[in-house]
Amino acid sequence: MGDQAVPADYKRFIEKKVNKMLRLQQRLDSSYEKADDQTLIEIIVQAKKTLGEKVVVLGHHYQRDEVIQFADKTGDSLALSRYAAEQEKALYVVFCGVEFMAEAADILTNDRQKVILPDLGAGCSMADMADIDSVELAWKELSQITDMDAVIPITYINSSAAIKNFVGRHNGAVCTSSNAASVMRWALGADDKTGSAGPELVREAKKRGRKVFFFPDQHLAINTAWKMGFSPSDNVLYDPETDCGGIERGALADASFILWKGHCSVHQRFTVAQIEYFRNRHENSVVMAHPECSNEVVKEADTVGSTDAIIKAVANAPRGSHIGIATEVHLVNRLAKAHPDLHIECLDPILCPCATMNRIDLPHLAWIMENLTADKVHNQIVVDEIIKEGAKTALEKMLQIV
Ligand code: 13P
Ligand code: SF4
Repeated sequence: MGDQAVPADYKRFIEKKVNKMLRLQQRLDSSYEKADDQTLIEIIVQAKKTLGEKVVVLGHHYQRDEVIQFADKTGDSLALSRYAAEQEKALYVVFCGVEFMAEAADILTNDRQKVILPDLGAGCSMADMADIDSVELAWKELSQITDMDAVIPITYINSSAAIKNFVGRHNGAVCTSSNAASVMRWALGADDKTGSAGPELVREAKKRGRKVFFFPDQHLAINTAWKMGFSPSDNVLYDPETDCGGIERGALADASFILWKGHCSVHQRFTVAQIEYFRNRHENSVVMAHPECSNEVVKEADTVGSTDAIIKAVANAPRGSHIGIATEVHLVNRLAKAHPDLHIECLDPILCPCATMNRIDLPHLAWIMENLTADKVHNQIVVDEIIKEGAKTALEKMLQIV
């Protein structure tokens, strides 16, 4: 097909898609790249002063220390999406986190507000494991072998806006690591009488015959189902690389959970051997894990929860405790610094920063903030109107449930 035969709006659509796939972050002006930390800090402090209420800076707990010091609000994914939704005065929401978080903020804020991601390369490798075309195909394939009216799609907030839109259009909801159990209970149609976990909840859920199709993190889903009292045989794994996900009709008929085969490259590094090694070295040790870790690790941990939950558990730990944590290392190191009365270490001895969270640094933040003082907006994250509606429905459903 000659170039002239391609309609201009289609070309623009493809260009947008390709740019998003490549996440093109423009090279910073060399003055930012060459500046020392003190100069960059002064630029950011000055810009925050100048912008006042016009700007709000959000920081996820996995951000570097030098970045998070500028956050007006720090939090886990749930806390930050709630906070973003409340910031009606701020014209600019600078999200120091990753792309799916900035997309969620754009969906939940009003049309006047601009959400900004300081480095467009800050994606999430787990979110990338479920692309919308593969998810649409999976839905079609499974509809050949099961009644999809009984299937409720749930997506972890670590997913693209397109997946959230898909889930919203199919009457599902978003969840985060701190509310996955409540959202699953809602999806399975559990009522208060059955309690939050246990054999009665499982029996009632099975009687209703509903299934949850969970994207993209298999581990959060497995750990949540396990906590509710389901057994591994209640799960089937959908592998997008295989025909019909590799799922057989018989196995699907008995399953309550269909799990997308995705994982977090940071949390999959934690092992039971690391926990054993840690416990052997310390008496009265406490092990804390994020629910993106494998079920073997989660079963061994003393406390399991979101980044906010881990922070709270550390704050409540008795003085002198030895705490081994299975989560991203910036958060673990910050906790160790903040609690000199505790012995805190990351369970992975080689340490594991989240490579994409790590991309947000002082030069990028200074570049964004200084330009905002001149009303120049770089790196605005704009979710397409076409997918905003369903995505908003799915996010708001979550906020209603919890
Ligand atoms: P939290 O919601 O627990 O902060 O987790 C987000 C995340 O990406 C963990 O890898
Ligand atoms: Fe994504 Fe894992 Fe990084 Fe969280 S830690 S943002 S799930 S890659």
